[in-house]
Amino acid sequence: MLSEHWPLFGLRIRTPRLELRYPSDDDLATLADLAREPVHDPDFMPFTTPWTRAPSPARERDALRFWWRLRADLDVDEWTLPFVVLDDGEAVGVQDVKGTHLPGTRSVLTGSWIVQRHQGRGVGKEMRAAVLHLAFAGLDAIEAHTSAFEDNAASLGVSRALGYLPNGAHVDDREGQAARHLRFVLSRAAWEQRRRTDITVDNLEPCLEFLGLGRAA
Ligand SMILES: CC(C)(COP(=O)(O)OP(=O)(O)OC[C@H]1O[C@@H](n2cnc3c(N)ncnc32)[C@H](O)[C@@H]1OP(=O)(O)O)[C@@H](O)C(=O)NCCC(=O)NCCS
Repeated sequence: MLSEHWPLFGLRIRTPRLELRYPSDDDLATLADLAREPVHDPDFMPFTTPWTRAPSPARERDALRFWWRLRADLDVDEWTLPFVVLDDGEAVGVQDVKGTHLPGTRSVLTGSWIVQRHQGRGVGKEMRAAVLHLAFAGLDAIEAHTSAFEDNAASLGVSRALGYLPNGAHVDDREGQAARHLRFVLSRAAWEQRRRTDITVDNLEPCLEFLGLGRAA
């Protein structure tokens, strides 16, 4: 079993509604299919890297390269865990969580997308809550960070609903145009106020050393 060598394949976060798991190659094939679908309106770009503009099949192949790179480049000092998000067993998108020098920073950064036909039904909020539970309850984080372009109402809505506070702004390149990118932070104290008892994380213990929280991987 690959998970004997790479225990992250066993990592699961469950909420009453969703399952988030570290994706196997079969999951990545499903996500590559999903990545063909619209993620946003054509006249709006939510991402600093406009990967959704690439035509098929380059888009699916680029997505696979990206996920394989995250897997291969995982390092105790800097890692990004992508999670395939399953709603009632159906893959709907990806929720990432990134840590850099976690024992020192005790901070994570999140990013996500859902295909358009599954947006606006509370999935984005639920999957963010799931990785926040991993970060605060599982990895003992003290801060969680996120950011979004100022016109990304859905992403800003998720952060607002989960108690993040504004944490500055910067100008970013968006497809050749300057665009304001808003940053947000959720403190451990703010997370504790909304802490949920119905989210579980499975098989985290053998993964900790890969994330800088144990012996070197
Ligand atoms: C951003 C994204 C992940 C949010 O997920 P979602 O499932 O659409 O959002 P939810 O349904 O969970 O909504 C979360 C909150 O935002 C609000 N919201 C959602 N869409 C909104 C919109 N278009 N305008 C205003 N508020 C909105 C909801 O009302 C909810 O707040 P509430 O709990 O206080 O009612 C999803 O829309 C998406 O993938 N968008 C395209 C990619 C993207 O923008 N990724 C993030 C890049 S920073």
